[in-house]
Amino acid sequence: MGGLAAVSACSSEAVNDSYAHAVSSTWRHAKVDEGDKAAVLRELVRYATLAPSSHNTQCWKFRVENRSISVVADLSRRCPAVDPDDHHLFVSIGCATENLVQAALAYGLHANAIASPSSGETLRLSLEPTKAFASALFDAIPERQSTRGEYDGTPISSSELAMLERAGTGDGVQVVLLTESAAMERVLEYVIQGNTAQMNDRAFVEELKAWIRFNGSDAVRTGDGLYSGSSGNPSVPSWLGRLLFGLFFTAGSENDKYAKKVRSSSGIAVFVSETESPAQWIEVGRCYERFALQSTALGIRNAMLNQPVEVAALRRQLASFLGIGGRRPDLVVRFGRGPKLPPSLRRPVEAVLT
Ligand SMILES: Cc1cc2nc3c(=O)[nH]c(=O)nc-3n(C[C@H](O)[C@H](O)[C@H](O)COP(=O)(O)O)c2cc1C
Repeated sequence: MGGLAAVSACSSEAVNDSYAHAVSSTWRHAKVDEGDKAAVLRELVRYATLAPSSHNTQCWKFRVENRSISVVADLSRRCPAVDPDDHHLFVSIGCATENLVQAALAYGLHANAIASPSSGETLRLSLEPTKAFASALFDAIPERQSTRGEYDGTPISSSELAMLERAGTGDGVQVVLLTESAAMERVLEYVIQGNTAQMNDRAFVEELKAWIRFNGSDAVRTGDGLYSGSSGNPSVPSWLGRLLFGLFFTAGSENDKYAKKVRSSSGIAVFVSETESPAQWIEVGRCYERFALQSTALGIRNAMLNQPVEVAALRRQLASFLGIGGRRPDLVVRFGRGPKLPPSLRRPVEAVLT
């Protein structure tokens, strides 16, 4: 018995070590020789991969050419149950694009998005030399995370709110900041209704389960998906996780957690678009990523709660509550101060180059 315990302690230490190693090699700034053009372009792609993506699908590929990088949607990583119109997929592409743009500037390259890419591409960024500038947003890239824990509820100053609003605003994209508790409670009601509908939807649950990595070794092996530790959940063998999922991951238990998370937040940001198209959703992603990086730079954490925009009927109710007419609410994001959680992982750059 003692021997068995020792063996299992050893193997869990090895898992912890490999997860810790993957975290430190993923979430870092690196020193790349600026004269080595191929190394710089590869590094820009690495920064792009540190962006958030729905279910951490990393639904992107990159084509590196002499003076441009194309971002290509990886449709094999679609999530049709939660994201039937690929809205989140294109928002994720936008997040990666923003990281790439910020990193290019830090390496003295102005990344200019070409409006009409040729077929197969989602977006092409031409790269022109410019004066290098490492923005606060660039510095924040390895620190940013979707922090799903409770926050400390302390108010965010009006100057910080103004910075968040500026960062999150873009071409046809507005960010509505809610800090009054009555408005936040109303959004919580939509989150709870949306979560209840999703947890009762078999296709949604099966898709979600397929992207959960129930322990560190699965997270390291795949380099993608939702690592249980990043949501504050314990690590268990994947067969056990899948078995217990239906018992412990219920609408009721999750809704109680959402209530605590919203009530401990300092505010909720809702991103709203004027039009609906993949190009507009990419712009939403760029705005959200600037918001997330700006908040990280200010020591403010954030996490999405997208149930009210994922369930179409609730999306219309949220729009009417916000008084935004026919415009689409794209993302619901809570923010506040609180501790970091174990980070999610990424696939290596080689896996996303075409
Ligand atoms: C379009 C989009 C939608 C997302 N929706 C949710 C969500 O509803 N709930 C949530 O907890 N995280 C959501 N996320 C966060 C991702 O799960 C997260 O980015 C991913 O797991 C990687 O983790 P990281 O952001 O900490 O690097 C979303 C991210 C994106 C880009």
